[in-house]
Parts: sequence; C-alpha cells; structure tokens
Amino acid sequence: MEASARACANIALAKYWGKADVQRNVPAVPSVSLTLDQLLTETRVRFDRSLGADVVRLDGRRATEAEADRVIAMLNRVRREARLRVKARVSSHNHFPTAAGLASSASGFAALAAAASAAAGIGFNARRLSALARASSASAARSIYGGFVELPAGSRGDVELAARQVAPPEHWNLRLVVALTEPGQKKVGSTEGMERSRKTSPYYQAWLEQAPKWSRKIKRAIKERELDTLGAAMEQSTLAFHCCAITSDPPIIYWAPATLAALATVRGLRGRGVSVWATMDAGPHVKALCAASDASRVRQALDRTEGVTRSWVAKPGPDVEVHR
Ligand code: DP6
Repeated sequence: MEASARACANIALAKYWGKADVQRNVPAVPSVSLTLDQLLTETRVRFDRSLGADVVRLDGRRATEAEADRVIAMLNRVRREARLRVKARVSSHNHFPTAAGLASSASGFAALAAAASAAAGIGFNARRLSALARASSASAARSIYGGFVELPAGSRGDVELAARQVAPPEHWNLRLVVALTEPGQKKVGSTEGMERSRKTSPYYQAWLEQAPKWSRKIKRAIKERELDTLGAAMEQSTLAFHCCAITSDPPIIYWAPATLAALATVRGLRGRGVSVWATMDAGPHVKALCAASDASRVRQALDRTEGVTRSWVAKPGPDVEVHR
C-alpha cells in the first residue's frame, strides 16, 4: 500500500491554453512538449488504515487547503478505481533548482498519479496514468512520458484523453536554456487564466482555429529534426496564447520588462546566425530552445541580459519512474 514516483517537468513547444470541458479538464487544443531532466518531483504515497483523513505534505510543510484539495481529488479518483476506502499520507518534494519560480504542477501531478495508483495496487499502463494525471492538470498528462510528447485536443465528456510520445529523449539532443526574470505582478494561475481568456478574449476563437496548425508543424519538425521550423512555430504558438491572455478582461500580462529584454537577446543571437528560439508560459521567465552545441553561448547572452536573475540548461528527460 505504499509507492513512490519521480516525474520530470515539461515545456510546451506547442501551447495548451483553453479547455473543451472544465469539469473533466479536457484541453480544447492539441499541445506538444519536451520533458526536461533535472526539474523533477518525487512523491511518496502510503494508504494507511490508521488515518482518519488524508495528510498532504509538500516540500516538508503542510499543504494549504487549496493544494490539498487538488491532491485529494486525485486520491479520490484512484480510490474509486481501486475500490479502496483507506486514507493516504502523501509527501512530495520538488527537486528544482532553488527558487526556480517555475510551475511544478506538471511533474507534481504526474508523480502523484503514478505513486498513488501503484500504492493502491492498480497496474495502470502509461496511457491510463496519463489520462489520470490529465484530469488534475493537462500539462501533467505529458510528463508521464519522456522526450517529445503530444496531448491531443479532446471534447466534452472525454475521460480517456491521454498524451503519447512523439519521440524518445535520445531522438534529438536539444537544450532548453531557462532564464529566470524578476516576476512582475502577482501571477494568475493557468487554470484561471485560460478560463478568463475563453470567456472574454476576442481572439480566443482565432486561437482555437490556429493552434492545431502549429502543433502539426511542430510534430513534423521534431520527426525531421528541423530546429528552425520548430522554433518559429513555437514562438508563434507562444505569442498567440499570450495574445489571448493579454486581451482577456481584465487583462493578464505575464511579462516583466526582463521578458522583453530576453526576447530581444534571443532575436539578436538569431541575427548573428544562432538557431535559438524563445517560449514563455504563464509567467515572466523566458526559455530558449537551441542545439546542445549552442547552449553555453545562449546561456551567457541571457545571463548578461538586464533583469535576468539566473539561468540553467535542461536536456530532454525520461519517463515517469515508479518505485515500490
Ligand atoms: C501556459 O496544465 O497548468 O503552461 O490543466 O488547468 O492544470 P490545468 O493547466 P496547466 O496549463 C499549462 C499552460 C501553459 C502551456 C502548456 O504547458 O501547454
């Protein structure tokens, strides 16, 4: 009745923004991602008959009520599946570079789905695990797999929607240089942000229509290892989703001044012949995708950029790993 799992974070190359079904957490657009080594969450789950309630600890502290609610919702799905009534003790640690300021919900819910179902004795395959993780956080569905991963769009009522691997980590030796910037204003969470965009942005419909095209292009570019094609489509997908966020009411501006400075650095490097491309998620940090041989040059340039506080380099990472 006990198991632990390790899952890596991922970065979307083609972005997910918007839900087809809020209750079942089904994305309205397809997304494609790269699973990253180093940024990982380790989660241990023990079902214990002596417990009167679920106990959730995150990074050594007691989870807040909102955090615990999302964890317990996942435990409830696993208990339903396993026909189990026992409460659980969950303890989760993020092994991210200190103060990374990056979202850990993808690695967190992927590790929780894998650890909780193993502890409950349900032998889920990767596909079922991915669908389980997706119900908590759609990006978590992608962190079940290593390397390059796609999560198709779904439709209302879809319970089985899961991610699948496009190519394993060793397919392409890319690097993602993560440049941390000082956060601007207080963050709007992605769940809340995408719902606001769906309800209020005049560009949301156009986003829904265009997003599949970038996903297809990115998948093809991965298969053919064409960095320029992949990078250009990734930047378009990024800017289009931010366009939906910015034009929401009230507006959601995730960028800080350093975000634009880092974008200019990436464009400047491209002007000097380096194939490097930028992406941002629901926050101000900039992540630059490039070949392994260019990573140190890209990192140095980003480190010298005004407002960039620290950086590091991530590689393609592995599948989720379960230990009993
Ligand atoms: C901008 O997966 O965090 O990072 O399904 O509501 O938990 P929920 O959203 P989440 O959204 C991630 C949004 C994004 C783009 C991406 O990772 O595809």
